[in-house]
Amino acid sequence: MDEAGPVGRKTKRPSSRSWDAVANWYIGWAGAEGSRHHRELAIPAMMKLLALQPGEHLLDIGCGAGALAPAVMAAGARYCGLDKSPRLIAHGRRHHGGKVRLLVGEATKLAASSSLRREEFDAASFLLSLQDIDPLDAALASARWALHPGGRLVIVMTHPCFRIPRQSGWGWDEARGLRYRRIDRYLTSLDIPMQEYGRKGRAGGGTTRSYHRPLQSYFAALSENGFLIDALEEIPAPAPEGEGRALRLSSGDIPLFLAIRALRRR
Ligand SMILES: C[S@@+](CC[C@H](N)C(=O)[O-])C[C@H]1O[C@@H](n2cnc3c(N)ncnc32)[C@H](O)[C@@H]1O
Repeated sequence: MDEAGPVGRKTKRPSSRSWDAVANWYIGWAGAEGSRHHRELAIPAMMKLLALQPGEHLLDIGCGAGALAPAVMAAGARYCGLDKSPRLIAHGRRHHGGKVRLLVGEATKLAASSSLRREEFDAASFLLSLQDIDPLDAALASARWALHPGGRLVIVMTHPCFRIPRQSGWGWDEARGLRYRRIDRYLTSLDIPMQEYGRKGRAGGGTTRSYHRPLQSYFAALSENGFLIDALEEIPAPAPEGEGRALRLSSGDIPLFLAIRALRRR
């Protein structure tokens, strides 16, 4: 999925795109309850750091079709999801029914939304979405706006140090019998084309984008937007069953996801 490929451009776009044009592909791949990686790794990590109490209210930013909703409801909390893609939101509404609130909206401009109130939420989440949302600063300012003072923000994303789309991949060191992770670029923020849709160069055609940023950019943006990081976990993919030692070691030791919890300062 993320083998080395052509170099992305430095980030300079004004705002990220919705995944509306690839909604059917995404639903086919992940379903409304999430892919296997969602269900086994990303959602459990998110729920652990959110530590939701019954009755609390969560805003899931860049929610897609609301894959996080069932786990939030099972914890007795209330779920509100927001995404820029009307098709993903419509699919989520059909799948989850009236039990959850799903809104079409722009993650970087929540304060302009007529459907949300300032400081309405106890917790906010970016489940595998923040690396697809740009600008980062505006997305975090929005999350701060939506949370009450002391509210928790949890980000689960593909690990920005090891899983840089098109700029990292696995390799084999025959001499040492090791599988290693190769990182081609890291400190430069990149705007990387991902999933193509429509006809290249034609009206309606294009690609979804992913925004690589080094870890220091996330820390700086959280701090500048009034958040204090209080927990961080690095999550490896499960070791493939029956595979050789080199494969098991590298899968278990080089994380796939990074989870960060930050508290909104007063
Ligand atoms: C990889 S999907 C993740 C969706 C969902 N959280 C999940 O885990 O299934 C990234 C999502 O971010 C949304 N997105 C990207 N930019 C956005 C923006 N500026 N405002 C709101 N949503 C955005 C896309 O529409 C897409 O649904």
